[in-house]
Amino acid sequence: MAVEILSHNPDPLSRIISWCSWLNDGEGTREERQDTLIRLAQEISTNEELADTAVTLGALPRLLHALGSALKTGDEDHVEVISLAVSTCNARFTGTSVPDQDLRGSCPDVADEEQAVHTYRFPTSGIQVRVSEGDYDSTHEGFGFRVWTSAQLLCEILEKHRFLVMKRTVVELGAGCGLCGLFAHELGAREVTITDGIPGCLPAIQRSCNLVEIGSRAPRACFLDWKCDLEHLNMEADPNLQVGCEPLGSPTQDTWPLLDEDEQFELVIGSDVLYEMAAAATLAATIKRRLKDSRGSVALVVQALRKAELIEEFICRIVAYGFHVTFYDLKGVHLQ
Ligand SMILES: C[S@@+](CC[C@H](N)C(=O)[O-])C[C@H]1O[C@@H](n2cnc3c(N)ncnc32)[C@H](O)[C@@H]1O
Repeated sequence: MAVEILSHNPDPLSRIISWCSWLNDGEGTREERQDTLIRLAQEISTNEELADTAVTLGALPRLLHALGSALKTGDEDHVEVISLAVSTCNARFTGTSVPDQDLRGSCPDVADEEQAVHTYRFPTSGIQVRVSEGDYDSTHEGFGFRVWTSAQLLCEILEKHRFLVMKRTVVELGAGCGLCGLFAHELGAREVTITDGIPGCLPAIQRSCNLVEIGSRAPRACFLDWKCDLEHLNMEADPNLQVGCEPLGSPTQDTWPLLDEDEQFELVIGSDVLYEMAAAATLAATIKRRLKDSRGSVALVVQALRKAELIEEFICRIVAYGFHVTFYDLKGVHLQ
């Protein structure tokens, strides 16, 4: 089989080129093609140069299509591998070279289900949270259209340490669909702000906020791009710098509320928010700028361990800002 022959090639770059041309030639059975695509995804996921080559050879639409299928069938292993590969491809091409039409239409089945409402049940507290999923097309750049496993894990941690949340002001960063912020609200937070830096995520967050029971103070949806916080911190350090933060997504940013300049919170939460290198600096800056400087204030980040160097860089940045960091290895922790 072609797939096996190609896998014997010891040079990663040649392997990528062979796999891409093999896929482009339309060879092999469905299973062989899927297998090859997964191997390709594994190979490029931690190597931007290989990802660059794969994008040039037309692999990105195939990966996005495979991601859509994996999401549809609930194959979490493939979702993990392919989404990491896609983010490595996008990191290389941020804001410029990935043509919109390649991304749109590559995942029609997911787009059809865009307004589905899912109920997440947390047996220990008996809390149920209803989450409206996002629109794949408008959130593709950041994978915020669905709830990731890290979000469920973060909710379970909050559930076990409810004191961290109760009567506190909470902000969720890179919220995607906002499950953790919605859950913090149910756990008794005083005020919850659910944010994302891609405007396309905010309609789904707002829909979920609207689902919160009347009578309780509903969480609010706000636009927050961490890049802006980094620029502000840099400007504070050097007033000659200009702040020129452009939103990550479409111009619809204007229609969503922004955080106040000096708004800070007692609890900052984020799940699966570190997946591209730039986030190490920007996310650290947002935590620095948005976490209230008071006793008991804490930031909790739950992150799948994909790129060790990214986590290391983030920890270096956050330590440089003067934070005390505790790192918990959640390996072996299973969702209920
Ligand atoms: C993998 S998704 C995780 C979504 C959600 N936290 C979860 O676990 O289900 C990463 C999220 O981070 C957001 N994001 C990426 N870069 C960002 C930035 N610079 N500022 C704000 N949000 C950002 C994306 O829009 C996306 O919603």
